[in-house]
Amino acid sequence: MENFDVAVIGAGAAGMMCAAVAGQRGLRVVLIDHAERLAEKIRISGGGRCNFTNRDAGPANYLSENPRFCRSALARYTPQDFIALVQRYRIPFHEKHKGQLFCDDSSEQIIDMLVAECEAGRVAWRRPVRVEEIRRGESFVVSTNAGEIGARAVVVATGGLSIPKIGATDFAYGVARQFGLEVIEPRPALVPLTFTSAGWEPFAALSGLALEARVSTGAGKARGEFLEDLLLTHRGLSGPAILQISSFWALGTPLAIDLMPAGNATELLLEAKPGSKKRLVSQLSEWLPSRLAEVWAQVHGVTQEARLADLPDRQLRTLGDALNRWAITPAGTEGWRKAEVTAGGVSTAELSSASLEAKRVPGLHFIGEAVDVTGWLGGYNFQWAWASAVASAGALAESLGRR
Ligand code: FDA
Repeated sequence: MENFDVAVIGAGAAGMMCAAVAGQRGLRVVLIDHAERLAEKIRISGGGRCNFTNRDAGPANYLSENPRFCRSALARYTPQDFIALVQRYRIPFHEKHKGQLFCDDSSEQIIDMLVAECEAGRVAWRRPVRVEEIRRGESFVVSTNAGEIGARAVVVATGGLSIPKIGATDFAYGVARQFGLEVIEPRPALVPLTFTSAGWEPFAALSGLALEARVSTGAGKARGEFLEDLLLTHRGLSGPAILQISSFWALGTPLAIDLMPAGNATELLLEAKPGSKKRLVSQLSEWLPSRLAEVWAQVHGVTQEARLADLPDRQLRTLGDALNRWAITPAGTEGWRKAEVTAGGVSTAELSSASLEAKRVPGLHFIGEAVDVTGWLGGYNFQWAWASAVASAGALAESLGRR
């Protein structure tokens, strides 16, 4: 049996970063992954250009049962630290929107950089290799389809459940449960929302239409609110505003959508009404995409020909108030197939926030998306992957007594 200081399971964003840093700190590291292609999620991220961090990433951009858990790791490895690494590899990048940093050319450059960092740490690769079991005695034994590997510590970096077709598994949750650790029920996040076909029927024809909207849900600490683009689809809603709010949304609860965030629709309609010669739909089209204006009138029982001046104030109020506060309850989400991330995961109550080590199982670490820390859309999830990986690697280097 080959022996290493650390076996890192999962060679995605967090696993490669952890292996590289631990290796560069002098530890003998093996990195194991079952996928045929390396780091597929990095490859497809950001539309192939990898939104690798967010300049402004901080604890407020993450959801977790314990929102303070991510603080320590994020403070010790900041977006600026990752930007410095990217610059060292001369990877050109740009800021797209609200602090989101993307490669100018290709996400492959981030993968190549992480591979080079692993090489610099003399990391041993085992892939494609499937891990079958982890046993713990004096140290750990990792059984794989290619034989057994001994390790003083194990880092589980196998991510969450989103996009099963590129190799996502529930491995991390299985390991956590095997060692008696709590797992917060995983659920799809950063995911489009769907409606019943009857409820969505009038809007399905607007598929492809996008507009800026303010979307909110939840209350108190669980409240989320985002002003971003909203996209109507055949089955429901998508676009950045919806992906963001989906992480906060709970089944059976409504969303509040402000389709006219720039103004008070009722006031504007009542001001425009006296002496107006316009049809209601034409008036609404000055503020909204005209196809949406037509459907909005229709679902509120107003004909396409109806003139604004002929409509009672009461009806204008109902229609206008609903534009600023459209209350609509999704039936579900597009599920793991379309979710960018997994909310929930290995409970933060089980882990040290400084080292990501399981408090009750010395030597066993969980990092990245496997942990119950979920970032907003916009580079935050990779920043958590990098930061949690570096925290874990640093602690391992300290505890395993090399350099
Ligand atoms: P990750 O999923 O990257 O890696 C897990 C690894 O473990 C994989 O290589 C997998 O093969 C391996 N594995 C799984 N089970 C295993 C097993 N049983 N045995 C061995 N290996 C196993 N985030 C962001 O910040 N910016 C962005 O632009 C995007 N874009 C984006 C687009 C799309 C389409 C998706 C699906 C996701 C994003 N994300 C994102 C989210 C981001 O990709 C994600 O949060 C990180 O990749 C998580 O990193 P991890 O290393 O934790 O898991």
